[in-house]
Amino acid sequence: MKHIISPTDLTVSELSDLLILAEEIIQNPKKYYNVCQGKKLATLFYEPSTRTRLSFEAAMLNLGGNILGFSSADSSSAAKGESVADTIRVISSYADICAIRHPKEGAPLVASIHSSIPVINAGDGGHNHPTQTFTDLLTIKNLKGRLNNLTVGFCGDLKFGRTVHSLINAMVRYDNIHFVLISPEELKIPTYLREEVLNANNISYQEVRNLEAVMPDLDLLYMTRVQKERFFNEEDYIRLKDTYILDTKKMQLAKEDMLVLHPLPRVNEISTEIDSDPRAVYFKQAEYGVYVRMALIMKLLEVA
Ligand code: CP
Repeated sequence: MKHIISPTDLTVSELSDLLILAEEIIQNPKKYYNVCQGKKLATLFYEPSTRTRLSFEAAMLNLGGNILGFSSADSSSAAKGESVADTIRVISSYADICAIRHPKEGAPLVASIHSSIPVINAGDGGHNHPTQTFTDLLTIKNLKGRLNNLTVGFCGDLKFGRTVHSLINAMVRYDNIHFVLISPEELKIPTYLREEVLNANNISYQEVRNLEAVMPDLDLLYMTRVQKERFFNEEDYIRLKDTYILDTKKMQLAKEDMLVLHPLPRVNEISTEIDSDPRAVYFKQAEYGVYVRMALIMKLLEVA
């Protein structure tokens, strides 16, 4: 039985197979309408979500399966003090597979240790968000045509942004990737990522503050929200939240085929005037999330 706790829990080859299956689902969704008939997905969400939870649920429904779960810690027995370990032991007898989001880093890993069904990390604190990464890679592969030879800008909250951490971890495995890490000093990537992932693998990267200066270099710009919920101090959040706002003027500096991605939700960091720019693909990216999660459920339940 396989769990997906980190994006690197899939090898590059397994990831390639996953993306190929997701593309086949896009081309011929009807072929997959009943492949999970009789199977149940549990969504255990201890933190708010729109895209991840609902796309997981849409994915299982599209495959002919059923769903159960909770959308907040308050509406589960976590509110009475139940541990993740006990919860997953019980859920293992109610469902065939589960997706768990939790504010504590490592909670999905703990769940996987105590689970007898596949566990998928749907976001753990500021740590990882592997299925967002699979979604991002499907978006890049389909809309950019490749996963190598790319200059990738990450902009905003690189400290707490788990989607950034996961995507960097996954992309270092492709050839000729250069990262441009754009953030204020306080929101730079965590030291472990710089030392153990980038430096340890001799990955090419630069850390800068000024977005405008690097815009012409980028093949992809991955914008992120400043993660209010992870700040200890509201004053710091208010001071930093609008550091970067992508607008038409900044987009004029970019390549004609640069793509703008964002895991969403967006707050102020991308002006809505950008939404009609063909390079803005964040809503398409959210749509791809359903297909890649369909493919992942199929792989983990071994129906593919
Ligand atoms: N991208 C993402 O994780 O969105 P949600 O928080 O809405 O699930």
